[in-house]
Amino acid sequence: MPIISIANSKGGAGKTTLCLVLAQAIADAGKRVLILDADPNRPIQTWASRLNDRGTSALSQLSVDGDVTESNIVDKIDAARETNDFVLIDLEGTASVAVSYAVGQSDFVLIPLQGSQLDADQAARVIGLIRQNAKAYRREIPFGVIFTRVNPAIKPRDLAHIEQALAENKIPVFETRLYERAAFRSIFQVGMTLQELTPAIVSRPEVAVENALAVAQELIDRLAGEIRDVA
Ligand SMILES: Nc1ncnc2c1ncn2[C@@H]1O[C@H](COP(=O)(O)OP(=O)(O)OP(=O)(O)O)[C@@H](O)[C@H]1O
Ligand SMILES: [Mg+2]
Repeated sequence: MPIISIANSKGGAGKTTLCLVLAQAIADAGKRVLILDADPNRPIQTWASRLNDRGTSALSQLSVDGDVTESNIVDKIDAARETNDFVLIDLEGTASVAVSYAVGQSDFVLIPLQGSQLDADQAARVIGLIRQNAKAYRREIPFGVIFTRVNPAIKPRDLAHIEQALAENKIPVFETRLYERAAFRSIFQVGMTLQELTPAIVSRPEVAVENALAVAQELIDRLAGEIRDVA
């Protein structure tokens, strides 16, 4: 089943947050989701341990494998493909052999981007890597840029400028964005799923859940070929 890598060599671009939020939204819709936590710092593995320590059953559709290394990642991806509806790979924030392997095995690469020129430059490097891998493996590797940590209240000029540059270069960009929400930080702090958050923990958790679902839906539509960009 589809293998989706979350990649951007820019540290702090929002990969881990996007990965976990998407995985929860897809799992909540009843699909079996596996996250391969390929970041040596294991942020998602740590989150999953916190949940397990609480003894919650919220993770029934979602599993996390934190034992992923450069030498086993290809085998892990092969095995995961057989047993899950969706496999999401959280990659580290540097260019590495593991990132290259993961991108090469992916059905889709998601590139989170915050609306700054520095981030956009790094995203261009990831797109270069995807295109190189596509050549090496002689197949198309679909990808999409998604804006993340977007302020829900304003549309900054930087963002509009980057959007325009991406469109001129025919880079596929998600229509949905992941907004800057305290709920997306809280899940890591309190070791909960988005669905478990209550207004006593963070304000308006339901808005974050809705945002995560919309992003997941667009990913699913793109995987199904219902949204086609000329890349
Ligand atoms: N949509 C969001 N809303 C609020 N905070 C966010 C959002 N996305 C990311 N953050 C915050 O931004 C910081 C970096 O995010 P994250 O760890 O997801 O990035 P990353 O690309 O995985 O970083 P690294 O390259 O170090 O792995 C974290 O403090 C995280 O809580
Ligand atoms: Mg990360």
